[in-house]
Amino acid sequence: MDVQFGNVIINDIANFDSLEAAWDCFNWLKHMRENHPVYYDPNEDVWNVFLYEDVKRVLHDHTLFTNKKKRSFIPIPRNLNNRSNLNFSDPPEHQKRRALLAKAFTPRSLKDWEPRVQAITDELVDEMEGRREIDIVQSLSIPLPVIVIADLLGVPSKDRNIIKKWSDTLFYPYEQGSMDEIRRKKQQAHQEFFQYLYPIVLEKRHQLTDDIISDLIRAEIDGERLTDEEIVLSSIGLLGAGNETTTQLISNCFYCFLIDKPSTYKELRENHDLIPKAIEEVLRYRFFAKMDREIAQDTNVFGPKMKKGQAIVAWISAGNRDERQFASPEEFDIYRKGNQSHLTFGAGPHFCLGAPLARMEARIALKTFIKRYSKVSIPKTFRLQDHLIKSVSYASLKSFPLIVEK
Ligand code: HEM
Repeated sequence: MDVQFGNVIINDIANFDSLEAAWDCFNWLKHMRENHPVYYDPNEDVWNVFLYEDVKRVLHDHTLFTNKKKRSFIPIPRNLNNRSNLNFSDPPEHQKRRALLAKAFTPRSLKDWEPRVQAITDELVDEMEGRREIDIVQSLSIPLPVIVIADLLGVPSKDRNIIKKWSDTLFYPYEQGSMDEIRRKKQQAHQEFFQYLYPIVLEKRHQLTDDIISDLIRAEIDGERLTDEEIVLSSIGLLGAGNETTTQLISNCFYCFLIDKPSTYKELRENHDLIPKAIEEVLRYRFFAKMDREIAQDTNVFGPKMKKGQAIVAWISAGNRDERQFASPEEFDIYRKGNQSHLTFGAGPHFCLGAPLARMEARIALKTFIKRYSKVSIPKTFRLQDHLIKSVSYASLKSFPLIVEK
């Protein structure tokens, strides 16, 4: 199995001195947009772009900004010579790889998945019954995506805790310890996860059912099919791509609706149809994301001369608050026109394949919860710093207590 864990890690230029400063990274992003929209970091030999159009260009234009990169800011697994690997490839080879995986993400699959996601959400919200204080992160945002993906892949949901543990070890870049130690842990988690999934794939080959692994076994393009190993690796990749991201989206929705703009919860309770648009505004306003690429040929498209082989980071969250694209961008406004043009799901050939699933999970989670509880408030003792954890997006909520009333 040809798996590597990030060769040379790019250290971040944003050096926040506390988790709260990191949570409020939008001030720093604004500063960079206004003062250093195209910024070269000589220590790391990395370019950084902060404006909406520039971020979009980096994500779209693989001829100038390739995904076949030697360096990255996250030590995620790379399965380089393998069709399960979408991340480290460019068109045209990327197209076929993506098309095979996309066989499991059709609009029809999404329709079939909806009742399954609803049933899982109902169960989680039912478990909150009788409690006056609920930690929404631990009770809903964390368990929902991992149970959903285990169910959709077709692996036993009783194994969700160990699956979550493997997924965290593999894809969270911020563990304590030396790089060697982190790599060793990741290798081990990868091996264990691989050995867990492999027999499941073999079994399903003999008995195809209604799940993503079976869809990937069936998938065929120009006579090409995925091997067992590629199906296992694709499944691991989906967990990595979808778990922490969707957890953050759901948690951040509650934060925006109750803290950034506290009138929102009531508005959504009165009109559920506003929920999808509110989710788009959270994706634009409070979702930390950045992506990296390598410069494929010398270029001066952004002004200064950038050299082939240098790394470039596209600061998606900075683009999402660029006033050239969004009026009054620092305002959280669920009625905003065109907020779905945010870049949080990427842009161009690598646009997130799981975006419709993530949107559906968030919509169902919020609607089910909001329908159940008429009033929600934050405990008086709430202090943000007690509820933050270091994460891929610098700082995310590890807990968020809510006081609820039916
Ligand atoms: C809020 C939740 C999510 C966010 C913010 C998010 C964000 C992204 C972004 C920014 C990319 C583009 C990466 C690049 O340009 O290099 C991406 C790609 C991808 N995402 Fe998501 N994602 C989310 C949820 C999911 C889910 C639930 C799944 C599937 C279960 C998923 C599967 C993928 C896959 C397979 C790709 C690779 C596409 C390609 O390279 O062609 N994502 N995602």
